[in-house]
Amino acid sequence: MNVAVRNAIRKVTRPLQLHGGPSDALRQAATTSFHQNIIDKWKTTDGSNWSYFAQAESPEWTKAFWIEGGRYKRLFDQLDLTSLVELACGQGRHSFQVVNRCERLWLVDSSVDALSNARKRFSAHPHVTTVISIDGLSFTEIPDSSATAVFSYDAMVHFELLTVACYIAETARVLRPGGRGLFHHSNYAENPTGQIDENPGWRNFMTTDVMNHLLSRSGLRILEQTVFDRENPKGDALTMFEKPTR
Ligand SMILES: C[S@@+](CC[C@H](N)C(=O)[O-])C[C@H]1O[C@@H](n2cnc3c(N)ncnc32)[C@H](O)[C@@H]1O
Repeated sequence: MNVAVRNAIRKVTRPLQLHGGPSDALRQAATTSFHQNIIDKWKTTDGSNWSYFAQAESPEWTKAFWIEGGRYKRLFDQLDLTSLVELACGQGRHSFQVVNRCERLWLVDSSVDALSNARKRFSAHPHVTTVISIDGLSFTEIPDSSATAVFSYDAMVHFELLTVACYIAETARVLRPGGRGLFHHSNYAENPTGQIDENPGWRNFMTTDVMNHLLSRSGLRILEQTVFDRENPKGDALTMFEKPTR
């Protein structure tokens, strides 16, 4: 990675706090028009990519994540689902696969309309709580050290680097010691100064190296990482990590 980019990342991620969620300085730095543009695509039913949800609900689109022996399922099966958080859940198609295996399930998203549909979908499940992320950077409603696992599929690939940094700090805050995270994220480094609308599959700038750097700065330990082709050759990644017990 180019030295100027690396130094810029170091400068803005320095205010990361270990277990207290993102600092105000980091949140401020992350609150940009690029960040808001991504939220707005799915925020309401007239968002520019609202039609995504109709397609995503089809069995073909969801199968890849849940097929036995697939790359997602193999890692997901290593999470303790007792108290699970799904970040950027949309209408909740992924959590719906495992809702009956959780004692507590938190669904986080920045979209009022997607969460409203998720609430309807899970209305028969009193152990499910929907959490609106108003700033698109935090889930302060979820208590410290309360989650056994946090996961995110098909959403973080679009997020700004500083948005990811904020959510990593939040994840470090809510995970119990020994709890694990599983993030599906971008590994697309071709257009570091551009924005997602210019990139294939709307992948944002992120690499496995940067991800590992951010996770380590929030005190999280990387357990396994895999890169794979989706919209771009080796352009997506799955990273599983853990909050150390001490
Ligand atoms: C492509 S959809 C994926 C939804 C869901 N993960 C799925 O696979 O069906 C992207 C989701 O990310 C949410 N999102 C976008 N920016 C966000 C942010 N900063 N914080 C939380 N959610 C966000 C959107 O509202 C949308 O529900």
